[in-house]
Amino acid sequence: MTDDFIVLEDLEKVFQVRRRKGRLRRERHEVRAVDGISFAVARGEMVGYIGPNGAGKSTTIKMLTGILTPSGGRLRVAGIDPSRERTRLARRIGVVFGQRTTLWWDLPLRDSYALVRRMYRIPEARYRANLERCVELLDLGGLLEVPVRQLSLGQRMRGDITAALLHDPDVLYLDEPTIGLDVVSKSTVRRFLGDLNAAEGTTVLLTTHDLTDIEQLCKRVMVIDHGRLMYDGALTGLHEVGESERTLVVDLERELPPIEGVEGARTVRTEGPRQWLAFPASASAAPIVSQIADGYPLVDLSVREPAIEDVISRMYGGK
Ligand SMILES: Nc1ncnc2c1ncn2[C@@H]1O[C@H](COP(=O)(O)OP(=O)(O)OP(=O)(O)O)[C@@H](O)[C@H]1O
Ligand SMILES: [Mg+2]
Repeated sequence: MTDDFIVLEDLEKVFQVRRRKGRLRRERHEVRAVDGISFAVARGEMVGYIGPNGAGKSTTIKMLTGILTPSGGRLRVAGIDPSRERTRLARRIGVVFGQRTTLWWDLPLRDSYALVRRMYRIPEARYRANLERCVELLDLGGLLEVPVRQLSLGQRMRGDITAALLHDPDVLYLDEPTIGLDVVSKSTVRRFLGDLNAAEGTTVLLTTHDLTDIEQLCKRVMVIDHGRLMYDGALTGLHEVGESERTLVVDLERELPPIEGVEGARTVRTEGPRQWLAFPASASAAPIVSQIADGYPLVDLSVREPAIEDVISRMYGGK
């Protein structure tokens, strides 16, 4: 056995949907929400799972929790087939859906947690230690007696994360855990997740539309689109796949016509004595700089890395 903790082989989920067509007729058609995805996540990894709206991210996570049964392919989490042994799996996993709470709306957080404790039969000492830790690190002090419906979105999200962790799950699925949070809450949540993964070795699968989450937390990222895996690797490697460009910003002594004849780069913008040249992100800037320095009165220069957002939107748009 390898140390792979989550294994997907050719996983598929097809939804049959009926659309009204005219007054009486209905047309049936299929939505291939997940269309043959394979990957493996090792124990202790923290992986980003990203893609545009409707790509199939939430559907994948629902299959990983056993909420949805796959239409095809194979799936194992901690050696368990999620849809067949959902209850047994529940003891091993924690789930946070940012879009909706798993807490009891009318109960104070503390009562919700007490119910979670009974549901999972968490030993008292463990429960207290875990709760204390989450309350401290997620800044929940003073909120435990407040009914969930009175919490702000950011407070509720931190409350949800706590609920998902009280039973010491080996793996945590987070579906947009930072959606709608302010900068402070976001950084609290990120720091907490980073520490959790580092200190407890919890395996984390993170879905988000905020790429800063990924940049700060995940060495590995998977990009899906139309139910297919488009990329699986290091975040930095996305630049190569996305054929992204870096930008060389040069300041000349004076305003001049656009720089020409530089091999491997092209001038994309000028503004007074400042000019911008684009070149492939995978290429070295040095030969470009020396060509410019040879032919132009160069005063200063800097290199700008492509924004990861641009790289990804190019990927989404490209295929
Ligand atoms: N229960 C369902 N019945 C029919 N179609 C569904 C169902 N759930 C999801 N879909 C469809 O499956 C596709 C994937 O949806 P999914 O929710 O997995 O996307 P997502 O990647 O999570 O998107 P988002 O970023 O918007 O959350 C979409 O086309 C969606 O309309
Ligand atoms: Mg979703």
